[in-house]
Amino acid sequence: MGTMGKLRRTMYCGDIRKEHVGQEVVLMGWVQRSRNLGKLIFTDIRDIRGICQAVFHEDDAALFALAKDLKNEYVVAVRGVVRERSSKNTEIPTGEIEVEVSELIILDTAKTPPIYIKDGDNVNEEMRLKYRYLDLRKPEMQQKLINRSKLTKCIRDFYHEHNFHEIETPMLAKSTPEGARDYLVPSRLYEGKFYALPQSPQIFKQLLMVSGMDRYFQITKCFRDEDLRANRQPEFTQIDVEMSFVDEDDVLSIHEKLVKKLFKEMVKYDVPLPLHRMTYEEAMERFGVDKPDLRFGMELKNLNEILKDSSFNVFSNTVANGNVIRAINFDEGDALVSKKGMKKLEEFVKDYGAKGLIHVRYNEEKDSSIDKFLSEEEKDRIFSAMGSKEGDIVFIIADTFSTTSHALGNLRNHLAKMADVVDPNQYEVLWITDFPLFEYDEEEERYVAKHHPFTSPKMEDIDLLESNPEKVRSKAYDLVINGEEMGGGSIRINNSELQAKMFKALGFTKEKAQEQFGFLIEALSYGTPPHGGIAFGLDRMVQLFTNTPNIRDVIAFPKTQSAICLMTEAPSLVSADQLKEVHLKVDK
Ligand code: AMO
Repeated sequence: MGTMGKLRRTMYCGDIRKEHVGQEVVLMGWVQRSRNLGKLIFTDIRDIRGICQAVFHEDDAALFALAKDLKNEYVVAVRGVVRERSSKNTEIPTGEIEVEVSELIILDTAKTPPIYIKDGDNVNEEMRLKYRYLDLRKPEMQQKLINRSKLTKCIRDFYHEHNFHEIETPMLAKSTPEGARDYLVPSRLYEGKFYALPQSPQIFKQLLMVSGMDRYFQITKCFRDEDLRANRQPEFTQIDVEMSFVDEDDVLSIHEKLVKKLFKEMVKYDVPLPLHRMTYEEAMERFGVDKPDLRFGMELKNLNEILKDSSFNVFSNTVANGNVIRAINFDEGDALVSKKGMKKLEEFVKDYGAKGLIHVRYNEEKDSSIDKFLSEEEKDRIFSAMGSKEGDIVFIIADTFSTTSHALGNLRNHLAKMADVVDPNQYEVLWITDFPLFEYDEEEERYVAKHHPFTSPKMEDIDLLESNPEKVRSKAYDLVINGEEMGGGSIRINNSELQAKMFKALGFTKEKAQEQFGFLIEALSYGTPPHGGIAFGLDRMVQLFTNTPNIRDVIAFPKTQSAICLMTEAPSLVSADQLKEVHLKVDK
């Protein structure tokens, strides 16, 4: 423990209990608050492990005079004897004792802090981020960082126990197309050239398998210049893994053990193994999204059969055009969605590409947004197909499979939140498998890799690579927990010919593939073991285990939603000299 002047810390404030009564202790910490009652001063002292009440008596005039100066957030050392309190505080673990102080040293004074150092204080987030070092004095914030550290230790231990080696990979890497936008670093020595910060160590970890390192892991920062959301940061941490001589089952089964261990150690929850596996196709059919939250039902159903002959043109045309009419049943939703609320839901689905949202309420009037077009009998057929009961609402969208999936899948999650049907202590963990190898990028008018260009197709689908790319399934998988993508990976291509074919399917010319990935294609030609891996989002895992909705709250020094560090004010302007050194001119 620390030594200050002639005082040496003997205990943490938060650790003192009744059994220490009579002992002399030396504590060091911050003044949480100090109350002067005239003859007595009570000062709460806070350190990383908790808060302890210190008492000063007027008998010792010099000590008392010094204690009178104590203000919030002063840093102090006190020596004193632990006593049992006359009025106990059952709210805190140290509530039965106090320390009767015989010596006080003020180690540092403090200005009045601009934010309260108090759990649950809901000052605006900008202030918290600007004064992050003060925000991190809050016990609940410290606890999140401590849990994060515990989690990374558990993870490291697990991989070491299973013969993985932790190996670092470069931060100054080569910019590669595909994926998100890169963060670029200009080169001083080579005018006009740039490094890129890695979006993930993907290629390096594969090269480590070519090197024969067999099993690699790393807990590392990744950088992606993409649109930020509640669970995304421009720099985030991955638990990155690669294994040799494996197929999908090997990667999934070892990671099920990791998942089980982490749940047990972090939240004492026993995850039943083997984990449920669901194909991408099934997930999209039943839940409309590739990361379904299985803590509630409300599955999507196809109503083509019962509505294809409807006199409502939108329905009959949809089916005739080869599209779909899909619906979800909102349990007991009638009472929860007002007329105004319904307008908001109609707006909600528009954000996900739907042109409209049709509803039918299962109440006396069976109100519907398309009353004019739906017969009573059609409504009954809808209710019966959806398994609706009185008090429910059926929501229907008629569009392409992809739009109905996107809109209804997200509406399903939204309604579950609205109805508060999710138990925060329940966990639903599953693998999603058999992702498509490609997806069509409307903007670029070409196929792009759904996971990344190094992912292996399923061997039985290889013949479709050129003739029917969208039908090709891949050996990619995601770990989904409570509707959140926690991790994703794949078995890789370990053959330079197949890798070249893949680049071709992605629209790369031979020259372009050579320029961007020549080193990888060459490496694959020198004897590459079958290999595959996965990466988990560490920040998201900490969110899960600490029940924290906002990713910024589990990162010591995060960026805002607009990628700014409010504390250091990065990104910032740099001097003209610095710009010149790296051969850049800023047009402003
Ligand atoms: P992927 O891109 O799926 O895979 O990323 C793996 C996991 O990282 C987390 N994640 C993020 N977390 C916070 N902020 C972000 N911006 C962010 N982006 C991703 C997610 C995601 O599941 N190289 C491959 C892995 C592999 O194939 O082995 C990769 O990076 O939890």
